[in-house]
Amino acid sequence: MLGKNKIQSSRESKSYEDEKREQMVFGPLYSQIYDALYKDKDYRRECDYLEELFKMFRVKVKKILDLGCGTGNHSIELGKRGYEVVGIDISEKMINIATEKLKNLNNKKIKFIRDDIRNFSLKDRFDAVISMFAVIGYINENDDLIKTFYNVREHLKEDGIFIFDVWFGPAVINLKPTQKVKEINLQESEKIFRITTPKLDVMKHIVEVNFKVIYAREDNLHIFEENHKMRFFFPKELELMLKISGFKRVYLLPFLETEREPNENDWNITVISLKK
Ligand SMILES: C[S@@+](CC[C@H](N)C(=O)[O-])C[C@H]1O[C@@H](n2cnc3c(N)ncnc32)[C@H](O)[C@@H]1O
Repeated sequence: MLGKNKIQSSRESKSYEDEKREQMVFGPLYSQIYDALYKDKDYRRECDYLEELFKMFRVKVKKILDLGCGTGNHSIELGKRGYEVVGIDISEKMINIATEKLKNLNNKKIKFIRDDIRNFSLKDRFDAVISMFAVIGYINENDDLIKTFYNVREHLKEDGIFIFDVWFGPAVINLKPTQKVKEINLQESEKIFRITTPKLDVMKHIVEVNFKVIYAREDNLHIFEENHKMRFFFPKELELMLKISGFKRVYLLPFLETEREPNENDWNITVISLKK
């Protein structure tokens, strides 16, 4: 018997193709243009900032775990500065690009692994775990976040530090996400055009970001979309989730700053958590 419930649930549920499309973030095409999209992002300055925080919180750092390392830009810069670095990312293509960059470097201190930061397991323990450029925002659900934070704690040495940046709820609600257009001219024959359309869901603490991309390279034209569900965070929930996960101290700063508390105009914040 084909019950009423069955008809309803098949109507409500998304098709496999819809689900796949929604889940596919940092797919092959988006990953391919990632470094070009963020060519002006100052990864060196961000690594200076990380080192400044290591000093400020008096953590001696030799080994770093980079969660959601993407195309490896922080990992590689930190590796060049003498740290031992392991980078983890769920996207096959992003990890491939990162690994490819290693070939020209001959730096045995950097390693990339494809895995999910919600449930990876390494034998090593690290002095610092970093997760840069709103990676933690891709973990939308509370139980996944607590699982991730708990796992991070397990991979830290006793004096370890966990540093990540996220979108700051008070600022997202105050400033509101807006539509943006980015145009990048790489060479005569290579151009990227990206339209970013956000949808704010205040109740779920999510901004659903739709990226429509036109990528023209020589005679090839790629037109594609990705939907990124970005969670934004409030101070008390961050503190609660990190403390439930076993971190003893939690501090918030405006991203790339060290001197003041964040406010409703700071879209990006840095979260610093200490194991003891
Ligand atoms: C905005 S990019 C940041 C990449 C890099 N940290 C940077 O600063 O350029 C977000 C990255 O998080 C990764 N990511 C998202 N969810 C993940 C998960 N559950 N496990 C591992 N990586 C994840 C994506 O594949 C992507 O490479």
